[in-house]
Amino acid sequence: MFIHCELLILILAMTLDGQVHSGEIYGGHEAVPHSRPYMVLLELHMEDRSKGYCGGFLLNEDFVMTAAHCQAKSYTALLGAHDISNSNEIQRIHVEKTFPNKHYNGTDYENDIMLLKLSSKAHLKEHVRPIPLAAQDNGTLPKSCTVSGWGTSDRNKRNMTPVLMEVNVTLILGENCDKKNFYCSEGKTGPGQGDSGGPLVCEDGEAYGVVSTSNTPNSNGWQMYRYTKIPEHRNWISWIMEHNGKC
Ligand SMILES: *[C@@H]1O[C@H](CO)[C@@H](O)[C@H](O)[C@H]1NC(C)=O
Ligand SMILES: *[C@@H]1O[C@H](CO)[C@@H](O)[C@H](O)[C@H]1NC(C)=O
Ligand SMILES: *[C@@H]1O[C@H](CO)[C@@H](O)[C@H](O)[C@H]1NC(C)=O
Repeated sequence: MFIHCELLILILAMTLDGQVHSGEIYGGHEAVPHSRPYMVLLELHMEDRSKGYCGGFLLNEDFVMTAAHCQAKSYTALLGAHDISNSNEIQRIHVEKTFPNKHYNGTDYENDIMLLKLSSKAHLKEHVRPIPLAAQDNGTLPKSCTVSGWGTSDRNKRNMTPVLMEVNVTLILGENCDKKNFYCSEGKTGPGQGDSGGPLVCEDGEAYGVVSTSNTPNSNGWQMYRYTKIPEHRNWISWIMEHNGKC
């Protein structure tokens, strides 16, 4: 039932911005510091001068991947972070150019994926490393998946968490997920506001999805979380990176 309905008005993009949403990395725990060196915290500088946050992940020294709904006037990417108050260890790099997917649909969040080209190369080192992307899947859902981010961990608060959090999620089949090229997970635990754009990392340590949306919790407190399928976008990703890699 739950997954057969078109829950469009209930879908919430998980960007931490001026709007009030619910949802959180809920039931998660602090990640081992720097165990996910591809994680990027994106500061979103909005037209109205407010600030928002999204997650992202490093693909190589020039490109970060995030969700297309994480749109802003300009961005700063924070690399190598665990505790965001410890600015010594963080590389802050501005984003020079954005490549939202042309087929992104802001109503149903289909193709919610975007590439960001950094204005200067990331300095790769122990705590700053790219993540490989999953190739075409073979029709079986990936297992042992985790999402991570600095998004809010408290249903009633809108603060980012100071340290990187992570939570395991189990992917499920659902008509609306397959038809629209999403991976989905369901439960009380999952990504939250401010975690949009972060990676869904599965079995072999590859990125399979991009954190996109959740719907409002049902009476059990369960939510459906959706992730843009990276394998469906590999050609587009390669094309953008090949044609825009050199300044
Ligand atoms: C976007 O999604 C909505 C809802 O599924 C659909 O009605 C609309 O046609 C889509 N827009 C485009 C440009 O595909
Ligand atoms: C698909 O890939 C997974 C993970 O590599 C593997 O466990 C599974 O057996 C494969 N399924 C088929 C039908 O090839
Ligand atoms: C999360 O998944 C990993 C890998 O499958 C596993 O080792 C770990 O015990 C799980 N953690 C929790 C809290 O379930």
